Amino acid sequence: MMRNFIYLLFLGLFFGCSSEKTIEKVKQKTIDAAEVQFSKIGKLYESKRIPRTLKNGDLFSVNPYDWTSGFYAGSLWYLYELTENPQWKDQAVAYTEILDTIQWYSGNHDVGFMINCSYGNGYRIGGKEHYKQVLVNAAESLSQRFNSNVGQIKSWNYREAWDGVTEWFYPVIIDNMMNLELLFEASAISGNGFYRDLAIIHADNTMRDHYRPDFSSYHVVDYDTITGHVLDKATCQGFADNSSWARGQAWGLYGYVITYRATKDEKYLDFAINIADYMMNHPSIPEDKIPYWDYHIDVDGYQAEWDYQDGVDYFYRDVSAATITASALIELATYVSQEESNQYVDYARDIIMNVSTPNYMATEDEDNYFILKHSVGSLPHGGSVDTPANYADYYYLEALTRLINYETDKDYVLPENTSIASWY
Ligand code: GLY
Repeated sequence: MMRNFIYLLFLGLFFGCSSEKTIEKVKQKTIDAAEVQFSKIGKLYESKRIPRTLKNGDLFSVNPYDWTSGFYAGSLWYLYELTENPQWKDQAVAYTEILDTIQWYSGNHDVGFMINCSYGNGYRIGGKEHYKQVLVNAAESLSQRFNSNVGQIKSWNYREAWDGVTEWFYPVIIDNMMNLELLFEASAISGNGFYRDLAIIHADNTMRDHYRPDFSSYHVVDYDTITGHVLDKATCQGFADNSSWARGQAWGLYGYVITYRATKDEKYLDFAINIADYMMNHPSIPEDKIPYWDYHIDVDGYQAEWDYQDGVDYFYRDVSAATITASALIELATYVSQEESNQYVDYARDIIMNVSTPNYMATEDEDNYFILKHSVGSLPHGGSVDTPANYADYYYLEALTRLINYETDKDYVLPENTSIASWY
């Protein structure tokens, strides 16, 4: 009996320590990779350009109005948090502040991604108090896209669907759940509950309209702006209208974790748990847990409406979907029982360990400027297929930081009324 106990104690200590050591190693490997890759970019900010991906091996940069413009600054803030090297803080400030005009931008819903990942992290990690007003201004701009007949924030402006016939008048995409964090944060900062109220209405109506009974999500839902009725449920970046676009599932999971964090309403926690269960147990997920870009590629019953070619191998992984999922699961783990928490953290840890191998992590001489390879922007559009993506790197650094914090303080509980400004 005693011998068994000592044996189990030994195993526990051994694996406990070895897990922490491995995370330490991954942390160092990631810092080394990020420092090499991010050093290559130099002063690109002077021309107000931001690295987004690679195109035919060359840097593809964007201007501040691109939906991905905030991720590079966000990654630099995380690198600063991981290293405490002021060089990365200076770079983070430079790539954040070229987004200054975005706080007034209401041309699409992405202002949440753009401002929260840059200025939001600058406030939280960099202690930049004056960035708080930028977050509130950006939330005000985003709130201008809310139509009370629909009860949702409009994601994109009018556009046509794949068939060139269907028109989308008020398209709301699942990705929009991510922008709620900015609204919650702006209410916490300003004391004005208006932004938070909009976020809650949006989250409730997304639950009602975007989700299927199995807790998978449509990508796009289009609305009539007068009656608020649903006109269309479809995809834009996924395989088929009824399929599960991998990054969309990840955005939805993360979005409901945020909504629970800000409201502490159990219905959002239950919803996030159900989404996580759907994702983690889906039969299409490969052994290494890095999903294909859609869960239903070439599956009977799922009809592609884009320029689909029979016989072409469309089975690309989407590392960005994996890293967003890992980050969301680690936060989810802090809200549930120890037993449930273990399964989420184990899953997230597997993702982090797997993407930090040469299968997915760029070596010094390849994939300049980025840490991770093998994401998919939009396969149906032929855009950024099997390339690095600045958002995959951002959520990887966030997930790794969260895992390190979780592992080093297993009893960590969130303070009451927390917001991103005090979390982690
Ligand atoms: N709209 C953001 C994405 O492609 O995931």
